[in-house]
Amino acid sequence: MALRNILKDGDPTLRKKSRPVTEFNERLHQLLDDMRETLLNADGVGLAAPQVGVLRRVVLVLDTEKGEGEEDELIELVNPEIVAASGEQVGPEGCLSVPGVYGIVKRPDLVKVRAQDRYGNFFEVWGTGLTARAFCHETDHLNGILFTSLTDEILTPEQLEEMHRQEAEEKAQEVSPDGDKQDGKATGQ
Ligand code: NI
Repeated sequence: MALRNILKDGDPTLRKKSRPVTEFNERLHQLLDDMRETLLNADGVGLAAPQVGVLRRVVLVLDTEKGEGEEDELIELVNPEIVAASGEQVGPEGCLSVPGVYGIVKRPDLVKVRAQDRYGNFFEVWGTGLTARAFCHETDHLNGILFTSLTDEILTPEQLEEMHRQEAEEKAQEVSPDGDKQDGKATGQ
């Protein structure tokens, strides 16, 4: 596995549409393994292949809405399609390709995705809350869309500070069995 460089907003690759994966080979597995390492290293909740310069429909999403005591799960989605969505959530969203910037984005609160795994097997997965938001955000990346195009309210430095203060407060109140991976959850995708 190797860390890959995360492209930043302004790189034209981020605005391009990614192509479907047709070969579920060693090269895809290498990409997924590298993306996993890169995402965990960046402490984000999601990463799309175009963010590491590969215009293929591949994303990773950290399922942070697991039950109490369950480990967060990193979901590999190849050729993902959002097939159902309901509800609504309005909240701050960020991106590893747009560091330090958060904007208010409206998303569905419940999302169903159909995708393939690294071997080409089809599966469906539901996500709520932050995970639903990440499914939408990462799928957008595959179509060359960044969240900054979807928000008309970028948080000011004061609002950002308030958001981080609230997150720190929530973290302090949480009883976390393993004590880590609780911060940065509302951060980059
Ligand atoms: Ni992103």
